[in-house]
Amino acid sequence: MCGIFGIITSQEQTLGPILIEAAKRLAYRGYDSVGSATVWASGQIDLRKDVGRIQDVSTRLRFAEMRGSRGITQLRWATFGAPSQPNAQPHLDSDGDMVGAHNGNVVNNVQLRELFLREGLIVRGTNDGETCVHAVERHFDHNGGDMLAAIRSAYTDLEGDYAFVITHRDEHKLYAIKKGSGLVGGLGDGFTCLSSDLPSILPLTRRIIRIRDGEIVTLAPDRIELFNVADGAPITRDEERYEGPIEVAEKGGYPHFMLKEIHEQPTVANELLHLLDSTPHLARFVEALRATGDRPVYLVGSGTSYHACLLGAYYFNRVAGCSAVPCLGPQFIEQYANSVGPQDTAVFVSQSGETKDILNALKVMRQKGGRVLSVLNVLGSSLAHASDVYLPLACGYEISVPATKTFVNQCVLFLYLAFRLAGRKTDELSALPRLLAEAVEVTDAPSRKVVEYLVNWNALHYLGYGMTHPIALEAALKLKEITYAHCEGMFSSEFKHGPLAAVHDGYPVLFFTLAGDEAMMINHINEVTTRGGRAIAVAAEHPILRKNVHDYLPVPASDPLLAPIVLTIPAQLVAYHMSVARGIDPDFPRNLSKTLTVD
Ligand code: BG6
Repeated sequence: MCGIFGIITSQEQTLGPILIEAAKRLAYRGYDSVGSATVWASGQIDLRKDVGRIQDVSTRLRFAEMRGSRGITQLRWATFGAPSQPNAQPHLDSDGDMVGAHNGNVVNNVQLRELFLREGLIVRGTNDGETCVHAVERHFDHNGGDMLAAIRSAYTDLEGDYAFVITHRDEHKLYAIKKGSGLVGGLGDGFTCLSSDLPSILPLTRRIIRIRDGEIVTLAPDRIELFNVADGAPITRDEERYEGPIEVAEKGGYPHFMLKEIHEQPTVANELLHLLDSTPHLARFVEALRATGDRPVYLVGSGTSYHACLLGAYYFNRVAGCSAVPCLGPQFIEQYANSVGPQDTAVFVSQSGETKDILNALKVMRQKGGRVLSVLNVLGSSLAHASDVYLPLACGYEISVPATKTFVNQCVLFLYLAFRLAGRKTDELSALPRLLAEAVEVTDAPSRKVVEYLVNWNALHYLGYGMTHPIALEAALKLKEITYAHCEGMFSSEFKHGPLAAVHDGYPVLFFTLAGDEAMMINHINEVTTRGGRAIAVAAEHPILRKNVHDYLPVPASDPLLAPIVLTIPAQLVAYHMSVARGIDPDFPRNLSKTLTVD
């Protein structure tokens, strides 16, 4: 996820401070590189961009002095193409006549780059945003220099979810198109503007124009026009007045980033599945996994990422017959390092790519000569640079300290890898985004209901069996992180071997149950209810299971392999609603930080 902003004014003026302020308001969407471009009244393009945060880059490259009557700025959160100056946005076309920037993922960017190079276009980097500019460029001439027609043709080249803004030096207009990523227009006195979302527009104007997917928008200083990309027909759309606070706009209208990020999960899961189908890194990653032969693959993570490794090990074993050892970073060093060597492979999993526990383990794997693979969300991170091959989580910037969308995408990625290792068609996973969307929809109210009971408890247990054991652990961690209650996650068969002593009248125990495991879980449920405990099932509908519990949190029925990921949704929502009910800010809970770069 990145952020784009564009503005066009009736007079040439100093646009730099406006672009800097807009970029700062979009920085929460991504921050590994930033760039600005202005076009003077003469048509001269001034493009300044580099790796780094907006404060540093804008000072070093003196954005503030940039002048023009048109301006574009872009904050990059790298998904395709590691952070670098050539990959920073905005991008020029081959001859430097056009400049543009995008937000989103053009999943066929590798194929397009090869096509553009064959056609003699000058491609400067490996960022997918550049393919948007060249796609317009290659259709510009044969459309007689008509930008609208060229963008309509480019639309058919570009696959994925994106929005981009572009301008030609010789025409005093901005053009943009929306296809799956956010885009909104703003109307002011003597200017119009557009952005990925509201926070960068609201300080300039409260008069906004909503833009929908499949629409091309043109901006002149005094008006915004919309056209249907399918047939070029003009669209009329009334302007609106946005009265809400900017802070709410930054959270997409949600009260907290955590809830926004929970709701983003279907979209980012869908984008990851598309990305994995097209990224060239995947084949190398799978090849390295296969190279381990019958030796186990180590899956190494911390916290939430460790729980994804636990589920990943189930997937590798059950789907591909590939043995995997899930472990913590220090555990890898203390328990396994002595028996690994050049024939071994470890996958280091870290959304931040900076967790020192993981980087320490990676260093030991390097010393042993083993293969180093990684799964991460921050492409410019230490882990990315230290890996032989990495796969991105493509979640965009995860702001809330408790990991949600990065966990779900870690699990999706492991399932995808297991399918590839087994030679199974991955389109069986295409149901997942819809299932996640349905789960977010149908489990929110039941989650709030369960919280009405749980909120008064400061000790409780979450139990899982088989593939829901990692989910029980992750669900318990979420609850601990943001409600401060003590919640122990464990394998349900283990509960009777001691922890059962905790059960007394009303003591809550949640049972994360996979279809097919109901009979086993009913045994474990009755161990609790006969001792006065309150049993709460989190499962797809099952009449007999329902008869054995006090409360039932239903999730959509699904393939058992997808079910653990689907069950994560109510686990996240229960923690979120209980946190809010306790007056805690789930985004920034006490004592915790998003990334721990210490031992
Ligand atoms: C902790 C975070 O600091 O690090 C957890 O609070 C996270 O949410 C853990 O799961 C691991 O982080 P990462 O970046 O290595 O996945």
